[in-house]
Amino acid sequence: MSNIKSALITGANKGIGREIARQLGTDGYSVWLGCRDAERGERAAAELREAGIDAHALLLDVTSDISVVEAAAKFAKVSEHLDVLVNNAGINIDRRRASETKIDNMRNVYEVNAFGPVRVTLAFLQFLRKAEHARVVMMSSSLGSIAAALDPTSETYDVNLLSYNSSKAALNMITVMLAKDLHAEGIKVNAVNPGFTDTDLNQHHGHRSVEEAARIAVKLATIGENGPTAGFFHDGYFNDLGRHAW
Ligand SMILES: NC(=O)c1ccc[n+]([C@@H]2O[C@H](COP(=O)([O-])OP(=O)(O)OC[C@H]3O[C@@H](n4cnc5c(N)ncnc54)[C@H](OP(=O)(O)O)[C@@H]3O)[C@@H](O)[C@H]2O)c1
Repeated sequence: MSNIKSALITGANKGIGREIARQLGTDGYSVWLGCRDAERGERAAAELREAGIDAHALLLDVTSDISVVEAAAKFAKVSEHLDVLVNNAGINIDRRRASETKIDNMRNVYEVNAFGPVRVTLAFLQFLRKAEHARVVMMSSSLGSIAAALDPTSETYDVNLLSYNSSKAALNMITVMLAKDLHAEGIKVNAVNPGFTDTDLNQHHGHRSVEEAARIAVKLATIGENGPTAGFFHDGYFNDLGRHAW
């Protein structure tokens, strides 16, 4: 088995995902940028390679069984093991009030934000199992916290997005279920909240930089043997690793 550690990050052609790939690549990981568009993916990977990072684009639409299986088959040709999987791809396309939710929009959001991470994790588990200390990170959100949704003092209390918020709450439970199942095999699975970040997802209204946002994912992706599993973390903006309320 090659000693070089590898990481697959979904939705890595831009935003927080690309920055996670950059930070892990700078740490010496061979990074695989999961991207649903070959050209955008190759452009992002080429930029990272120019910065000296061992980066590869991997065509991967998290909503498609065929795409994910093909991506796993392509990965299998070059590597037996995968050390880190960051399920980062996410969308937020339904901003109507909760009572006006369009079911088709909700289904699309779940396909990316909730079913996507399950689809990708299950397809790449064969490689994670061959790594010594595999880590899976789920890119959740404070908007997925039921505790925050019910807390009038929470800064996200008024952000009442039925599709997005519930998809991330589902992702949080998916994290716990997978973490408990894979615990005995030494695979740690954690969810993280990057904070409100300046990306296309929110038309650049976020106040955190992608560099700040990526840090918490990288931290959980590289956590040691004594680190947590089945947790939900943020960096407390100023503090170090902080537990986020479920
Ligand atoms: N920004 C924030 O304030 C914030 C806060 C909390 C959580 N998050 C979470 O952080 C993650 C990254 O978001 P971001 O802010 O970096 O958003 P972004 O800039 O919009 O990036 C989203 C990424 O997901 C990809 N993607 C979307 N659908 C996909 C699919 N079907 N298959 C594969 N990739 C797909 C996009 O690819 P294309 O370029 O092809 O569309 C893009 O690379 C998301 O899970 C988001 O929910 C963000």
